[in-house]
Amino acid sequence: MEKIKIAGRDDLKLKGTVRVSGSKNAVLPAIAASLLTRDKVELGNVPLVKDVHTMLTLMKGLGADFHLRRNGLSLEVKTISSAEATYELVRAMRASILVLGPMLARSGKAVVALPGGCAIGLRPIDLHMNGLQKLGANITLKHGYITAEATQLQGADITFEKKTVGGTENLVMAACLARGETVLRNCAREPEVVNLCSLLVKMGAKIEGLGEETMKIQGVAELGGAVHDIIPDRIEAGTFLVAGALTRGNLLLTEVEPSHLITVIDKLRISGAKVEVKKNKIRITGSEVIRSQDITTSPYPGFPTDMQAQFMVLMTRASGTSIITETIFERRFSHVNELLRLGASIEVSGDKAIIHGPTKMSGAEVTATDLRASASLILAGLVAKGWTVVNEVEHIDRGYENIEGKLRRLGADIERLSG
Ligand code: UD1
Repeated sequence: MEKIKIAGRDDLKLKGTVRVSGSKNAVLPAIAASLLTRDKVELGNVPLVKDVHTMLTLMKGLGADFHLRRNGLSLEVKTISSAEATYELVRAMRASILVLGPMLARSGKAVVALPGGCAIGLRPIDLHMNGLQKLGANITLKHGYITAEATQLQGADITFEKKTVGGTENLVMAACLARGETVLRNCAREPEVVNLCSLLVKMGAKIEGLGEETMKIQGVAELGGAVHDIIPDRIEAGTFLVAGALTRGNLLLTEVEPSHLITVIDKLRISGAKVEVKKNKIRITGSEVIRSQDITTSPYPGFPTDMQAQFMVLMTRASGTSIITETIFERRFSHVNELLRLGASIEVSGDKAIIHGPTKMSGAEVTATDLRASASLILAGLVAKGWTVVNEVEHIDRGYENIEGKLRRLGADIERLSG
């Protein structure tokens, strides 16, 4: 098991330039979308993170040929040779369920393991299932696997009871090859959903309402190949912005899309940081005094749940009490106990974490339980005095490309230990 070891300093100031990678959450559905056509789909700005490799292993099992280069990926699924996404893969990466909609739409059958529990709470897929049923799929559940079958999906009018990113993505992909019109209401509007829809449009899909709550899709008989760039990762960018504010440093982020980070930038400014936005760049200059504030996670364009853990670390250094309310996932406070080990003062009450600051943290051995929790522990380790060792670091590799290398170049004393 690899670990990350950080020599933290209360007075560390990160400085320099960091290039933001392509978005993990945008590339995964884009890879799944290649199942909708026998032609080649070429993706640019692909992050080399573990979830991409897991998705490609899954795709290979389904019949895909692919070629992964530095930042570029071409995929070709001439025929779907197997319809099954195994438990091993779905358990490793819940986003594996994104193959369900496209596989069903293209070949009439998809068998996908039920994801089961996960570290950030119950994450059901009922909304994916209900939507596919409305498109005419026959869905059965046996031995922990869902089988969805339909000779020809039919367009339908579907309202999501709750906003779901993966559910919206699965349904849009399926609806592209359904017969007739599909209307999807209460869609997730995350930039990753929009990025997927733009790829689908390039492939020949007829979608109206990109980035809106209601989308209309006119089904087509087939889709073709496309060349498409993945958007910058707004969560990786947000994590580095927090690192800048937390260490009272001065960082320039490049290859970033500031319009996807408006809520996060607002919150950083409230905390006291100076944030300057240019076309594809953001500069952050941390302030000596960090102000406390309350934050509530909500679907885009609200404050992202995937930035909650990182902001909690920033709030430990703020003067006063901050309350973070998590409305998207229950049990998404697993980082709190680890932050307590570093000396933070945080209480959890239901969906709220109450952070009392400022605290000076001291390094300790901590264990990551999910991707964003591990990011928060690395951030905390930067400013906790002494050695912090973050265990089970494979979580971070799922979604961050060489985070320790990027932080080291900014002045952090951080290394990866194997075994
Ligand atoms: C995606 C992101 C994840 C992010 C999350 C919320 C990817 C690969 N992952 O996850 O990083 O934290 O969006 O922004 O893009 N729900 C149901 N039934 C369903 C589906 C979802 O009740 O069928 C609930 C979930 O339990 C959760 C909420 O809806 O409470 C939002 O989940 P969803 O948007 O679907 O998250 P993911 O797509 O899994």
